[in-house]
Amino acid sequence: MKSERYLRKHVNSQEGKHFLVTGSSSGIGLEAARSLLFLGASVTFMVRNREKTKGRINAIEKEFGHPVDAKIVTYDQADPDSIIACINALEEKRFDGIVLSAGIYFPKKGSLGKQGVPITLQVNAIGVQTGFDAFYKRYPDAKYIFINSVANKPPKNNDYTPYFRAAKGKRFEDYCISKRIVMDIYALALKKGASAYMTHPGVTKTNIIQNYAPLIKRLGNGFLYIFVHHAWKAALGIVDLCCNDHEAGTYMVPRGPFHISGYPKAEEAPRVPEEEMDAWEAFYLQDYLTF
Ligand SMILES: NC(=O)c1ccc[n+]([C@@H]2O[C@H](COP(=O)([O-])OP(=O)(O)OC[C@H]3O[C@@H](n4cnc5c(N)ncnc54)[C@H](OP(=O)(O)O)[C@@H]3O)[C@@H](O)[C@H]2O)c1
Repeated sequence: MKSERYLRKHVNSQEGKHFLVTGSSSGIGLEAARSLLFLGASVTFMVRNREKTKGRINAIEKEFGHPVDAKIVTYDQADPDSIIACINALEEKRFDGIVLSAGIYFPKKGSLGKQGVPITLQVNAIGVQTGFDAFYKRYPDAKYIFINSVANKPPKNNDYTPYFRAAKGKRFEDYCISKRIVMDIYALALKKGASAYMTHPGVTKTNIIQNYAPLIKRLGNGFLYIFVHHAWKAALGIVDLCCNDHEAGTYMVPRGPFHISGYPKAEEAPRVPEEEMDAWEAFYLQDYLTF
């Protein structure tokens, strides 16, 4: 396994520990789950596609040459009812860490969530907030790992409403706003006393650009393959936060130039202004419900 050398040097065995990773059917979530399994932990894969994930776990077992302690639960992060039902049905009494990795970047144009909001905001913002709230109620002692992005943008005048109402097909803006909201959720979680952590994985080739036009997708994937790190390395910040002792609030980023590539290092977390996180909380608790 590609992360083996790093893991042997930087992380102890995780036997007896149990982690849950959302979006672990592909990309960064899958690579984080693979490393956690390699370290001997049990991993719950919280995904929307059971068959695809079964295939991934079979491949991991083949690679390791032995069975792994993995379980699959399914949900749809675009549907708040499905998120809550899945979390409430979990049989585990405790998790050591919960990684909120599922997310989308560039959906089909015009895709909307249940309440008619742009799908990226539905999955990456509403979905993460709904998931965190339901998890935290059941597992207040777990570590929570949030994934943000170098591409994040604070809302104009601390007002999130226009972005949720707009549905103008500005997919990159929707993504930047959704990742900023993840930072608000992380900051609010810390304020509540949760063991919250955040990492941005830099930039890496995953399925994240699957809806680009075919030629752009080919060029984009080629560019990412050559110039930035691979998903197994991008996932190491998550693994480090899950497994090593860090103060709540620790922020992990890739250590290379421009923070887009490299092994993880801890850095001071970006400050999220109180007014902004309060604006998100108010929007989520009041305005969003009236959509
Ligand atoms: N790649 C990068 O350069 C980069 C940079 C910064 C941040 N990130 C963040 O890293 C996280 C993982 O992304 P990735 O790059 O690994 O992309 P990815 O390969 O596309 O993985 C995304 C994961 O999210 C799942 N997902 C999407 N919509 C879902 C839904 N409605 N319900 C449940 N699961 C859903 C996908 O499930 P399926 O397998 O079923 O599609 C997949 O497992 C995201 O939060 C992303 O914003 C990525």
